[in-house]
Amino acid sequence: MTTVIRSAGLGKSYRSRTALHGINLEVPAGVVFGYLGPNGAGQTTTIRLLAGLLRPTAGRAEVCGFDIVRDRERAQRRIGYLPGDFVGYPDLTGEQYLRFLANLRGGVDWSVVQDLRKRLEAELTTRIGTLSHGSRQKVGIIQAFMHQPEVLLLDEPTTGLDPLVQREFLALVRDVRDQGRTVFLSSHILYEVEAVADMVAILRHGRLIVVESVDKLKAQAMRRIDLTFEGPPPLADLQAVAAVRDARVSGSTAHIVVEGSTSALLRAAAPHGVTQIVTHEPDLEEIFMTYYGQEVSPDAA
Ligand SMILES: Nc1ncnc2c1ncn2[C@@H]1O[C@H](COP(=O)(O)OP(=O)(O)OP(=O)(O)O)[C@@H](O)[C@H]1O
Ligand SMILES: [Mg+2]
Repeated sequence: MTTVIRSAGLGKSYRSRTALHGINLEVPAGVVFGYLGPNGAGQTTTIRLLAGLLRPTAGRAEVCGFDIVRDRERAQRRIGYLPGDFVGYPDLTGEQYLRFLANLRGGVDWSVVQDLRKRLEAELTTRIGTLSHGSRQKVGIIQAFMHQPEVLLLDEPTTGLDPLVQREFLALVRDVRDQGRTVFLSSHILYEVEAVADMVAILRHGRLIVVESVDKLKAQAMRRIDLTFEGPPPLADLQAVAAVRDARVSGSTAHIVVEGSTSALLRAAAPHGVTQIVTHEPDLEEIFMTYYGQEVSPDAA
């Protein structure tokens, strides 16, 4: 598998304040990678470093094999970047702005722009400065996608988009992924990340605390399962199962919390005559909250 984004000890300090502490990342080609964390955790800093817009104060990173400092231009040619605070040039119309950028990039297939404009219902004939927030964001999305870059670095891309456009945007992200390209995005909208991301990383206070596939995170998570029995639930047998973290009985139903696989629990329960099984799949939001809330030891340095 090709790695398109790789960082080693990547760090950034602003004067005395360290925003990012030695991040090690490996993002494979053809995935949607959700980059998450509470406000101020360092998502924007990471994305701006990877886009070659900030200079790291520690470590290094490569995009498509090109060092983001030494080979900045070659890396940037392969990147589409949407800043978190996209403003464009207020005096230009969307189309004038996109043509200007397309020229800088040495030409863009204009049918791609037309297609993006239709899908997002973007207004390109109005001056960017007079557009609503969401309409301006659409211009920002088009400029990031229009040259069909290998890597998209998107900082909170759906900010300001209405739900229909948001859905179309997520479809666009999946299309890009299905073409084998890579999308690295930050977001605070967890259901949206759950809907598109293959992998997620969670930052806290400038440190990576988790990098995992979404499937694996879900498989490892605590899940609730309710088992109803013909007779009284065999509480002791259920509690004896290693994966069971909690079990309570009400009437003929046992309410159980399991960590990871439920198969051992189901094997233990089966001989006692199970009449109903209700499982509650953990959603990513619950999983993230456990990580967001987690205390991480303060700066060891
Ligand atoms: N130019 C700067 N000078 C000083 N400190 C900065 C600067 N830019 C960012 N920081 C600090 O670095 C930390 C990380 O900022 P960053 O913008 O990366 O956060 P974020 O994870 O994107 O947050 P949010 O989710 O709110 O967008 C914050 O504590 C922020 O105050
Ligand atoms: Mg940010």
